[in-house]
Amino acid sequence: MDSFEINKIVACVLVVALVFIGLANFGEILYHVEKPKVAAYQVEGAEEMVIDASMAVAEESVPAEPAVSIQTLLASADIEKGAKVFKKCSQCHVLDKGGANKIGPALWNIVNKDIGAKEDYKYSNAMAAYGGQWTYEQLNGYLLNPKKYIEGTKMSFVGLKKEKDRANVILYLRSFSDAPAPIE
Ligand code: HEC
Repeated sequence: MDSFEINKIVACVLVVALVFIGLANFGEILYHVEKPKVAAYQVEGAEEMVIDASMAVAEESVPAEPAVSIQTLLASADIEKGAKVFKKCSQCHVLDKGGANKIGPALWNIVNKDIGAKEDYKYSNAMAAYGGQWTYEQLNGYLLNPKKYIEGTKMSFVGLKKEKDRANVILYLRSFSDAPAPIE
């Protein structure tokens, strides 16, 4: 075997190796699958659900802090839409004057009232100890994500993710009072 033949053999081996590598990459290109950016099982409008403790999973998707000031939102809120939103609350709350507590405390005259302070209702320790008043800001924060806003609250409600829903329902709550609190 002379050196010319050895060269040919070496060249052959190299060509085979190159073709092999090329094919492998080509396969990658053909069969490479992009992972979807958004998981297919995400549920739109999950915040619409009224949940009980057994369905508490959806809570994680709700942000912790409201983005826009509630005063700004209240200025353009719609009380009739608020009445509709309140249907989500009405399984646990009544608004009428002198209304009885249900699963949750009665909410007559709730704006600016002391938090967790109804004598005839047994609050969670978390809410009883929270302190302060239900200002518009507090209501806005609590209703966005009750379990994050007051950790340990026993209100099993996922929260209202839409700013407008919160503003509308707060405007509606406000109207259940002999002297509704000023908006400012
Ligand atoms: C599944 C029942 C349930 C639903 C639905 C629910 N709540 Fe509650 N809510 C409660 C319970 C229980 C408490 C008492 C929480 C505690 O003691 O930690 C509470 C407490 C409150 C408080 C504090 C009252 C106080 O006396 O300090 C407000 C305000 C409130 N809820 C508003 C709402 C609004 C508005 C909605 C609807 C958007 C709503 N809740 C939906 C059960 C519920």
